[in-house]
Amino acid sequence: MNLPDHLSSAPENLQKAILAFAEAVKQIDGKIRTAETSEAGSMNSFGEDQLKLDVLSDRICFTELEKSGVIAIAGSEEQSEEKVLTEGGEFSASFDPLDGSSLVDVNLAVGTIFGIWQGKGFMGKTGRDLVAAGYAIYGPRTTFIIAIDSNPTEFTLQSDGNWKMTIEKMEINEGKMFAPGNLRACAENKEYLALLDFWSENGYQLRYSGGMVPDIHQILVKGKGIFSYPGSESCPPKLRLIYECAPLAYVVEKAGGASSNLKGSLLDEKVEDLNQRTVICVGSKNEVDRCVKFLTV
Ligand code: F6P
Repeated sequence: MNLPDHLSSAPENLQKAILAFAEAVKQIDGKIRTAETSEAGSMNSFGEDQLKLDVLSDRICFTELEKSGVIAIAGSEEQSEEKVLTEGGEFSASFDPLDGSSLVDVNLAVGTIFGIWQGKGFMGKTGRDLVAAGYAIYGPRTTFIIAIDSNPTEFTLQSDGNWKMTIEKMEINEGKMFAPGNLRACAENKEYLALLDFWSENGYQLRYSGGMVPDIHQILVKGKGIFSYPGSESCPPKLRLIYECAPLAYVVEKAGGASSNLKGSLLDEKVEDLNQRTVICVGSKNEVDRCVKFLTV
């Protein structure tokens, strides 16, 4: 089955929003394969250097979302402010156009993350207002994962430009695999160090690439494991709520996994700032519970 057929039972405007991201992903895929990996000479709203590829990918997403005619407001991790796109649009879209872009020059997998929120704007909303979320991975294969209110489905980009369904129903169960982000926090965060010891002493398989999208995607494909990115005083959590954490938490929870910001589900964290950063633990339910127990003692 291809992507438009899979989406055909969803409301028409939602189909348009999702297909806009799928089209953007195809174009970004082309740029990653061939464009320069040099810096753009600018910084994003978080003070991080932007690559030319970040800027290109960002532009592609805005253009496709505007063309869809159903997105009222769009917010990108590369921009400090949200943009008004379509007057009367039904949804708002948040996205990280090229997550992990510093991994492109070393040829590791990177991704695009997106969330589609009901209504106009993000402030005061929680991940429960997401009506769909997904991501793409640019690796040996380019895949597009979409969750609309039930288990996520994976599509793989074909040479003719079509998206072919490759995993119909992604499901997360239990199993010993860990992807530990921000390990430098262990110098101060002794609870995280204790959790790391637990994983190391109990036969867990380490699978960490440094790119949040592939690191979480493996949990969905292998059906097990945990991704964590807590912080410490000098190494605070840096992952953003609306561009990265809430959309990925939505996908993981729809697959039967769990998410946490150490207070509850990440889907219950209220958006108070577009640049809000949060602790994230996502994956198998028992592993997320264990993370919370270790990190909140
Ligand atoms: O948000 C960007 C990102 O590249 C994530 O994909 C990844 O999990 C994280 O940063 C890794 O950051 P660091 O190497 O600084 O811990």
